[in-house]
Amino acid sequence: MKVIETKAGLKSWVNKRKAEGLTLGFVPTMGFLHEGHLSLIRQAKTENGAVIVSVFVNPAQFGPGEDFDRYPRDLPKDIRLAESAGADAFFAPSPKEMYPSEIGAVIRAGRQAERLCGKSRPGHFDGVLKVVTKLFHLTGADRAYFGQKDAQQLAIIEKFVQDYDFPVTIRRGATVREEDGLAKSSRNIYLSDRERMEAPALYEALKLGREAVLEGRDPVPAVRRHIENNTSGTIDYVEFLSYPELQEKPEGTAVLAVAVQFGKARLIDNLLLHLKENPHASNDAEF
Ligand code: PAF
Repeated sequence: MKVIETKAGLKSWVNKRKAEGLTLGFVPTMGFLHEGHLSLIRQAKTENGAVIVSVFVNPAQFGPGEDFDRYPRDLPKDIRLAESAGADAFFAPSPKEMYPSEIGAVIRAGRQAERLCGKSRPGHFDGVLKVVTKLFHLTGADRAYFGQKDAQQLAIIEKFVQDYDFPVTIRRGATVREEDGLAKSSRNIYLSDRERMEAPALYEALKLGREAVLEGRDPVPAVRRHIENNTSGTIDYVEFLSYPELQEKPEGTAVLAVAVQFGKARLIDNLLLHLKENPHASNDAEF
């Protein structure tokens, strides 16, 4: 696996692979890789001739007072893990390399960013779109891989790519969970021992919410109650919205999404439900 730190180095590697006729899969990450990332890398490897993984903690998507400075970082371990999962190139640029000068035009996420994390973290998805635009151009990827755990991010990027005719196909990866149901996340490291014991309640709550939907009830109260009764965290949101539009009164596919602030860790999780079919059929292993 080739470790690359500059845009010029990446371009030259990409050009060589394209000249060899290989298709390119791309897995963008902010590092501190876990099984969720590795499953995306493996998926990319089965669908492409070569795979690029990027690790870049993108300052543009963190708001004031958020965890940019303390976001967990372990590049040597990430390099080992990415290689073991089958990556061919590992792009880890510095902020200066990515953003050498002030950007002259802004990209602003639209309606899909008005609720959920977009509401709690103003400007977050603008920053995500800024960096993925650059990364899509730099990698020239045929396919890019994003996890369902960040369902709002995935919906926004899919629409952005479609609206602006980016020549890349977005591929979805199922949420990977710990044995007790906690969704894998780089931010789980912030949890205290007690919070770690409580955190599986998010997924339990979502599953109770799914039962409520099956019985024709609003799932939000059941989800809230379970989280409030079983964790010390503070609920940021529990919402039941159409997917991927992320608007009220879902009819076809819906997302039931939660965000909970524990001491240092803000955890998110969600379930997608196909309302016209049997919502049981739509667990998070199939999208
Ligand atoms: O999901 C993430 O880790 C980030 O938002 C992404 C897509 C790598 C952009 O910085």
